[in-house]
Amino acid sequence: MSGDHYFSSQPAAPSRPRQVELALPDLTMTLTTDAGVFSPERIDPATKLLLQEATDLGPTAAEHTDPHLLDLGCGYGPIALTLARRFPTATVWAIDTNERAVALCRANARAHGLDHVRPCVSTDDEPFAGVPDDIRFAGIWSNPPVRIGKAAMTALVSTALDRLTATGLAHLVVHRHLGADSLHRSLEGAGWQVTRRLSRRGIRLLEVSRRDDRDLPAPDAHPEQP
Ligand SMILES: C[S@@+](CC[C@H](N)C(=O)[O-])C[C@H]1O[C@@H](n2cnc3c(N)ncnc32)[C@H](O)[C@@H]1O
Repeated sequence: MSGDHYFSSQPAAPSRPRQVELALPDLTMTLTTDAGVFSPERIDPATKLLLQEATDLGPTAAEHTDPHLLDLGCGYGPIALTLARRFPTATVWAIDTNERAVALCRANARAHGLDHVRPCVSTDDEPFAGVPDDIRFAGIWSNPPVRIGKAAMTALVSTALDRLTATGLAHLVVHRHLGADSLHRSLEGAGWQVTRRLSRRGIRLLEVSRRDDRDLPAPDAHPEQP
């Protein structure tokens, strides 16, 4: 599929719908996938690890009633729909540049009666097209698109993190050999608190939050006057 990637906005691959089973300890769902989207034959192992391990909103969950959650790079929707099942009072924003993937996510959400999923097509110019500017995310879950390149992926993830609430938590899965550790370092270098929650079969699960001191001026930015 030369020139056609899972992140093409309009995949050239002829449509060939099929179904995959998402089986997690707390829920199962049948999802429709198609050619031209990410991992159409099975739930991606990194996605499955993320959904098995990052099951809650973290220690500040009580602060978030009716939270807004983000699935960054939703594909056909396994993450967004799982979040919607686990957090019935949340609004789950599901964004992707691949229009076929977003249409599948929308159809899958509808098929499962999950009308609090909001699938949106994003573009490079408008990464959050369709998401109102004042929305802040209490939680971000993502298996981010490493194939767009490390710099572009880091920029995309950073743009999303900037919209975390003050106590929000992001959960990212990235393969070690596809740049998990450089993403970890880049985010730390940009001032985020990053924890490697686990590493299994070469997949890292990173948790990212704001550092308590992130919004304070650098220690010597305003030196005391003698
Ligand atoms: C690794 S796949 C994960 C898909 C899905 N979440 C899953 O777990 O099966 C990454 C997704 O990010 C999407 N993507 C690529 N560039 C993007 C961008 N700039 N903004 C949002 N999504 C993007 C791709 O189209 C792809 O669906």
